[in-house]
Amino acid sequence: MKKLHIETYGCQMNVADSEVVASILKKEGLEYTKDINEADVILLNTCSIREHAENKIFQRLNELKKLRAGKEDLIVGLIGCMAERLKDKLFEKKGLVDIAAGPDSYRSLPSLLEQAYEKKNALDVELSLTETYSEIFPYRYDDNGISAFVSIMRGCNNFCSYCIVPYTRGRERSRDAQSIIDEVKQLATKGYKEVTLLGQNVNSYSYENEGQSVTFPQLLEQVALAVPNMRIRFTTSHPKDLSDDLLYVMAKYDNLAKWIHLPVQSGSTTVLQRMNRRYTREWYLDRVAAIRRILPEASITTDIMCGFSDETEAEQEETLSLMKEVGYDTAFMFKYSEREGTVASKRMPDNVPDDVKTKRLNDIIAVQNELSRMKNAEDEGKVFEVLVEGVSKKDEGEWKGRSSQNKTVVFPANNVKPGDFVKVKILSSSSATLRGEIA
Ligand code: 5AD
Ligand code: SF4
Repeated sequence: MKKLHIETYGCQMNVADSEVVASILKKEGLEYTKDINEADVILLNTCSIREHAENKIFQRLNELKKLRAGKEDLIVGLIGCMAERLKDKLFEKKGLVDIAAGPDSYRSLPSLLEQAYEKKNALDVELSLTETYSEIFPYRYDDNGISAFVSIMRGCNNFCSYCIVPYTRGRERSRDAQSIIDEVKQLATKGYKEVTLLGQNVNSYSYENEGQSVTFPQLLEQVALAVPNMRIRFTTSHPKDLSDDLLYVMAKYDNLAKWIHLPVQSGSTTVLQRMNRRYTREWYLDRVAAIRRILPEASITTDIMCGFSDETEAEQEETLSLMKEVGYDTAFMFKYSEREGTVASKRMPDNVPDDVKTKRLNDIIAVQNELSRMKNAEDEGKVFEVLVEGVSKKDEGEWKGRSSQNKTVVFPANNVKPGDFVKVKILSSSSATLRGEIA
C-alpha cells in the first residue's frame, strides 16, 4: 500500500483542506503516514498570504530534493494557495514539484497522481463557483480527537486591496447546511467535544435551499441545538458583517464559545479606505460596543497589519489607540507584504521602508503584550469552563486546556482526562496563560 504524507502551512482552512485531501486519497488506497521518510507521495498544502510564507515553502521544497535523491518514484506535490498563484511556473525548475493543485482541484488529485507517475507535469488550478467538498467526510489524521475543524464556506468576495485570497481561493460559496449539521453530529458521536466552523468570512455564510436561505446566525443556532454537549467556535468574522443577530444567538446558547476573532487591520479610517475594508474606525468601535453590551464575557482577538501603502505616523498612532480602546485579548500582528496581482500591488506603492515597518510592528506588539497581560489579570478570581486538551508540556504534572474565551488555562488535578469539561478558578496569569485550580 502506498503512503501519503501532508505538510500544512498557513491558516486553519488549510488544516481542514488537508483532511479533505487525505480523505480523497485514502479512497484511492493511499494511507496517511506521519513519517515523511516512508512516504511515497508528499503534499505541501501552502499559503501565499505573505512573501515570507512562500519563501519558507520554497526552502522546504529545496530540502525535499534530498529525499528525492534516493527515491526515483517519490512524488512531491504543491497544493493550495501557492499552487493557485504560481501555476505552471512551479514546473520551470526541474525536479522541484510533480503536482500542482489549487484549492478547488482536490477531487482531481487521483488523476493528477497518475499523470505524475507518467512523468507529466500534473497541473489543475481551475477555480470553481460551487465546489465546497460538501459530502466528503474529512480524514482527521492529525487532530487530538477532541477538537475538529469543519469548513462551512469557501472563497472570498471582499477584495481587500492587499489580499491575495480572492485570487487563490476564488469566489465565496456556502456549503449545504444539512451536510454541516450531519458532519458536526458525526463528530459528537465519535467523541469530539469542540468544533470550529471555518470560512474566510463566516458571517457572510448564506445557503439557498428550495427557495429558503440559511444565514450564519441561523446555521449557528442549528449547530448549537444539534450538538448541545459540544463547544462551538467559528472564525473568521468580517467586521462589516458582524450583526447584532449573530451576537444574540451567541448569547442565547451556552455551548457557543464566547470568543470573537474580529480582524481590524488598522485603526485609521483613511488606511481602512485604502485597504478597501468597507468599514470605518467608528463602525468597528460600534461593533465592539455591541459585543461588550450583548456578550459582556466574550474575548475579542484580532489581526493587525502595519506599514501599508502611504501609512503615516499619525495613522499608526490611530492603530495603537484603537487597540487600547478595544482592549484585545490577543492579536496576530504583521508587517504589510505586497502581493503581486492585488489591487494594492497595481495602484498603491509599497513605500513604507522596512525598518519603519519593523519599528511600527514592534510598537504594536509591545502594546498588545501589555493589553494581554492586563486582560488576563482581569480574569484572576473568575471561574471558567475549561476543555481539557492534554498535559501541559511546560508545566509537568499539570493539565492544559482552553476556556470558552479561547484562552489557555493550566491547572493541576487528579481524576481528569483529555476531553473533560472542568471548572477552573484562575489564581494567577501572564500575558500568554491563565493558571488556576479546579473550582
Ligand atoms: N501582508 C501582510 N499581512 C497580510 N494579511 C493578509 N494579507 C496580507 C499582506 N499582504 C494578514 C491580515 C489577515 C491575516 C490572515 O493576514 O491581517 O487578516
Ligand atoms: Fe494562506 Fe490565506 Fe490561503 Fe489561508 S487562505 S492558506 S491564509 S493565503
